Amino acid sequence: MGSLYPTTLSSSFHPKTLILTNSSQNPTRKPFNFRPVTTIASNSHYETERGFQFQIGDTFFRHESATGRDLGVLAAAIHKKSNGNLRVLDAMCGCGIRSLRYLAEANADFVLANDANEDCNGVIVSNLLSVSSEEDVRWKVSHSIANRVLAERYVERDLFDFIDVDSFGSDSSFFRCAFDTVKLGGLLYVTSTDGFSSGGHRPNHSLAAYGAYIRPLPYSNEIGLRMLIGGAMREASVLGYYITPLFSYYSYHGPVFRVLLRLNRGKPPHGIHYRFIGYCESCGHSQAISWDKLGQMKCPCESDVPDSLVVSGPLWTGPLHCASYLTEMHTLAGEWGWLGDGVKNDLDKLLRRMIDESDPSLPFGYIQLDEIASRAKVNSPRLATIMSVIQQEGYSVSRSHISNNAIKTNCPMSECIRIAKEIQTLPES
Ligand SMILES: C[S@@+](CC[C@H](N)C(=O)[O-])C[C@H]1O[C@@H](n2cnc3c(N)ncnc32)[C@H](O)[C@@H]1O
Ligand SMILES: [Zn+2]
Repeated sequence: MGSLYPTTLSSSFHPKTLILTNSSQNPTRKPFNFRPVTTIASNSHYETERGFQFQIGDTFFRHESATGRDLGVLAAAIHKKSNGNLRVLDAMCGCGIRSLRYLAEANADFVLANDANEDCNGVIVSNLLSVSSEEDVRWKVSHSIANRVLAERYVERDLFDFIDVDSFGSDSSFFRCAFDTVKLGGLLYVTSTDGFSSGGHRPNHSLAAYGAYIRPLPYSNEIGLRMLIGGAMREASVLGYYITPLFSYYSYHGPVFRVLLRLNRGKPPHGIHYRFIGYCESCGHSQAISWDKLGQMKCPCESDVPDSLVVSGPLWTGPLHCASYLTEMHTLAGEWGWLGDGVKNDLDKLLRRMIDESDPSLPFGYIQLDEIASRAKVNSPRLATIMSVIQQEGYSVSRSHISNNAIKTNCPMSECIRIAKEIQTLPES
């Protein structure tokens, strides 16, 4: 793609310094590539989510993605409360359920609901009409490929506070345009559904999509999140920006890896967490490997088993979440009556677990209790028991939102093995 900067502007021009909120402020803005409102698809049937009834017609829709939508809406609502504005670009909107919820629940000032498939038009329009009329100009519908709609808005200097790209597979081609089109301090909510890449089964593919050569690791579902954040981080840095993950969410339906990133200009205040990850198959020890240590990689166990050190990366090795943002989301979810409401994917449990995982002393990855048991040659320890002993010994430990039978801890694998053996000898309580 050629440069998106208008040629008449000086090279020091920075598009994000000019933020326009409505067309009356920008008489040169070209119209969106909008379709007129069409009639409602006759084969639509209705679905309900968080009390909203909407049509799905023949669009792609999954109930299982409701938690990802809840998290996006909570984050967007917090952004609106703290910034006063919320302009959302829902780049792959399907039936428009997210757009509907950003309008109705996050109180977005404006949502551009885009889906490349023109056949979605009637369903999207009808769903958005249930929130506000066309005359209110709180939403528009367009049917371009995501990169085109993002690039067009960028060229028009029509930037957004929140961009949601709910893509399939390992599509990362929109990162550059999305970073151009989100405001500084704004949020980008992105997705990967490529479980083969995160599992280390397509290293050349993950290298092409996210710039990370991923090999099989025991905590592959966390690797999927780190691969996605790392790929986004690299693209942001090309433009002179850095990103902060506000939350990272893995769901086994799909699987789906979703991350919410905040965009800022300059260098990250706490350094760049963009390194390699080494896992020793001999002893189970994991380590982060910095770029200047690439020639000296070895496991402290000095295993003589050939090729026992499995190295993946580069990827994001920093925190998966921002605890304070998650805490605000949890509080808001409580105010909205979303906690403990008996919904199967209990949001309360999920958010609490993500907050626990945000402890900065916890390293990347998680340890499956079955791996500890197998290395210790004992039965799998009870989760609560091993967590309590690890904590008593002065280490940090939490559960993982990704795996029910795993822990995140800075306790080395060798110590976890010793503890598992000792627990085995304790009398049953
Ligand atoms: C995962 S579905 C979206 C689901 C929707 N966001 C939801 O929460 O129900 C992905 C959508 O992206 C659309 N799509 C696929 N490739 C696209 C592209 N390059 N640009 C825009 N839309 C695209 C598809 O038509 C599909 O409706
Ligand atoms: Zn080792």
